[in-house]
Amino acid sequence: MGAAKPGFAEAIVEWQRRAGRHDLPWQGTRDAYRIWLSEVMLQQTQVSTVVPYYLGFLEAFPDVSALAGATLDRVMQLWSGLGYYSRARNLHRCAQQVVERHGGRFPRDAATLSTLPGIGRSTAAAIAVFAEGERAAILDGNVRRVLCRVFGVEGWPGERAVEARLWALAERELPARGVESYTQGLMDLGATVCTRARPACGSCPVADRCVALREQRIAALPSPRPARAVPLRACRMLAVRHEGAWLVERRPAAGIWGGLWSLPQEDLAAAGPPAAFVDEVGRRHGLALGAPVAAEPFVHAFTHFRLRIEPFVCEARSARGAAAPGAVWLPAADVAGAALPRPVKRLLLALA
Ligand code: ADE
Repeated sequence: MGAAKPGFAEAIVEWQRRAGRHDLPWQGTRDAYRIWLSEVMLQQTQVSTVVPYYLGFLEAFPDVSALAGATLDRVMQLWSGLGYYSRARNLHRCAQQVVERHGGRFPRDAATLSTLPGIGRSTAAAIAVFAEGERAAILDGNVRRVLCRVFGVEGWPGERAVEARLWALAERELPARGVESYTQGLMDLGATVCTRARPACGSCPVADRCVALREQRIAALPSPRPARAVPLRACRMLAVRHEGAWLVERRPAAGIWGGLWSLPQEDLAAAGPPAAFVDEVGRRHGLALGAPVAAEPFVHAFTHFRLRIEPFVCEARSARGAAAPGAVWLPAADVAGAALPRPVKRLLLALA
């Protein structure tokens, strides 16, 4: 009989002390200014990229007053290359607010920190943990991934309900003691072991309780953002034929297929019977048209919607009057090379 399995936090803390990172340049200080600077730089950015910027900023701005007194230009110049530039503008504004509202003393508790520009809930917690040892939960992208996998949390973490569930988990698992090692351990685990692709589960201190590993769903968790539901619209198209040519109209410059040639089309949401549409097209072009025959409907996918096309074919008894403004007879042999929308070209080639 072995000892009881340690709790999640206990296993993370033990692992961090043994195998985590201990000599990052922002470790070993309780200076909230330095910790804040590192945490903002580490948002969406890897440690190896951040290190030279962090050292450069500390040299240029050794304390929050120096940063607050700098010009925004100078701050942007030093930030240049680190990306996500709103972080730099917020950094500067935050430094100025710390000087104006807090007399230059950097706040150390998560509640106050989270009122400052560029400091969200997770960053506020990280600063409070490392500066003060406050029991506050972090939840950045790496930690989301760890929690989703270990606890088998389903659903896309960008969704409110899933995010709320993850915050509740993050709070629940906080240890009573050793919150600094625990927090650093979660960060280290996410960055070096529980990576997005090919995680090193063989070196993971919580592999023995990991739902994703047990169920072989590591690649499936966290769940990806669901594909956006695209609306389906429907239209009717009329292919009018006369002596081996098709009647095509120039589309208005604005809107889908702007400027291309296409078939007479009506929105099905507001349409009457097909015969009424045939009458309308005949009138528009001064043509006597035969009865419409339905062809096979099909769906064309755009980026933001799908269009179901219900095609009809009819014969024009004569071509007289067909050159109404913006309309021509397109010989069937020219369809392949014509400036037609893809689904219309496909339809006309199929009808030929
Ligand atoms: N990512 C975010 N904060 C970090 C920290 N303090 N150390 C390492 N990686 C981090």
